[in-house]
Amino acid sequence: MDRPIGGASGGRRTRPTAHELARYETLFATRTRGMKSSAMREMMALTERPDVISLAGGLPDTSTFEPELYAALMSRVAAESTARALQYGPTEGMASTVQCVVDVMAAEGTAIDPGEVLITTGGQQVIDLVCKTLIDPGDVIVAEAPTYPGAVPTFSAYQAHVEQIEMDEDGMQIDQLEATLDRLAAEGRTPKFIYTIPNFQNPGGVTMSLARRRRLIGVAHERELLILEDNPYGLLRYEGEPLPTLHSLDAEVAGAGGSADLVIYLGTFSKILSPGLRLGWAVAPRPVLEKLNLGKQGADLCSSPVTQLFVAEYFKERARDGRPRWLEYIEQLRDLYRARRDTMLDALAEHFGESARWTTPEGGLFVWATLDGRIDTTDLLAQARGSEGVAFVPGRAAFVDGRRGASSMRLNFAGMPDGEIREGIRRIGKVVREQVDMYGTLTGAAAPAADHTDADPGPAPDPGSASQDAAKLADVVELPRRARDDSSRRLQDR
Ligand SMILES: Cc1ncc(COP(=O)(O)O)c(C=O)c1O
Repeated sequence: MDRPIGGASGGRRTRPTAHELARYETLFATRTRGMKSSAMREMMALTERPDVISLAGGLPDTSTFEPELYAALMSRVAAESTARALQYGPTEGMASTVQCVVDVMAAEGTAIDPGEVLITTGGQQVIDLVCKTLIDPGDVIVAEAPTYPGAVPTFSAYQAHVEQIEMDEDGMQIDQLEATLDRLAAEGRTPKFIYTIPNFQNPGGVTMSLARRRRLIGVAHERELLILEDNPYGLLRYEGEPLPTLHSLDAEVAGAGGSADLVIYLGTFSKILSPGLRLGWAVAPRPVLEKLNLGKQGADLCSSPVTQLFVAEYFKERARDGRPRWLEYIEQLRDLYRARRDTMLDALAEHFGESARWTTPEGGLFVWATLDGRIDTTDLLAQARGSEGVAFVPGRAAFVDGRRGASSMRLNFAGMPDGEIREGIRRIGKVVREQVDMYGTLTGAAAPAADHTDADPGPAPDPGSASQDAAKLADVVELPRRARDDSSRRLQDR
């Protein structure tokens, strides 16, 4: 990894001390009090350490991209588009890159108007720009429980009030959503948007059913609510039939020739090509798009023309059988990740024991596992990293007030080869068993099955005290199951 050079710390990034921070305290904007680092970003540093098996990051396996192809595409951009690559580009994105977005969306079964696309610096920037455009301090965002850990610090930075709605294996529970919306309405509050990851949710690994998608669009239309549909993984489906995007269902209802009324769609090249390119996109109703564009001008003027041109060159490539090469590559990724997912599920069945449960994702990158209710995965992570050299994302990172998800963890199966997945899960299983045995010794009782009740942690604490409170609480939240013979049980019984 490239390290910063020089400075008193010799290039190491050290955190400022409380004393150092105090000197600047009066200068910081109020919103910085709610800012926190995404657990994922903290974990990213670990991926650079060869002695640690990291199942933590949201990493795809970029080693699968052919080096010769990468070199050829970069050379072509350098030789044939020198001035354009080195110049600023339009804020909305280069036309050739927008066309690639149209192609990817078409592969998702979604027809869009290229005039409604904004090329962004990763999908992450879409989340930021949507908040920048819509959220005043205290405004409500509705999200899933758990939600994408990388969105949590963004929501916090804009001082949003986040309501998280439980999921089951069909995704967000719309009954609960409606009850929450009714409660908010009674308080005179209307959410600014509903944030959902309908396919192979990060971190839950579940997919919203077609019936739920239709209901969600229905609710949005009845109540005139915006939806932010975050869909980085839609094309990474390993089994089952693809489902229509919320954008396309909205366009059907709106009847406006491919344009959605209420859905802001977030896409990215990160998981189907490379996160290093830092390219994503938004597709949004024009009035919203215009504000997102203004927000982006203030953030970075435009996304990198170098990488935009790289993507445009890549999309011109054809495989031997004449198909677009980018589609062939995605197929290759699907085969690889499907096998890795199966390796992880088998390893979980072998090493995680009776009291744990986990989801069986049909695609994407993540499994969400919930352990014995007495285990706090934040503490477990410290032990797993320290004594076993293995990392995961603790469940609390997927909850805005950090007080739920204490016994759960997110595990990435895509970024590591089979051997490391197996070994990583074995090591986590070992520390889990040690903790369960320790509790057994302390209480003289055998480990109970996980307490999977969805205890309401009560009113949210002040943003500043959430992490302290979090450390004291050990409530358990998992994705509730409707039937006892769910797929994870079946898997364990195999
Ligand atoms: C659900 C979700 N949204 C957005 C992102 C942001 O991705 P990027 O900024 O690399 O496009 C990720 C990355 O892991 C993600 O999982």
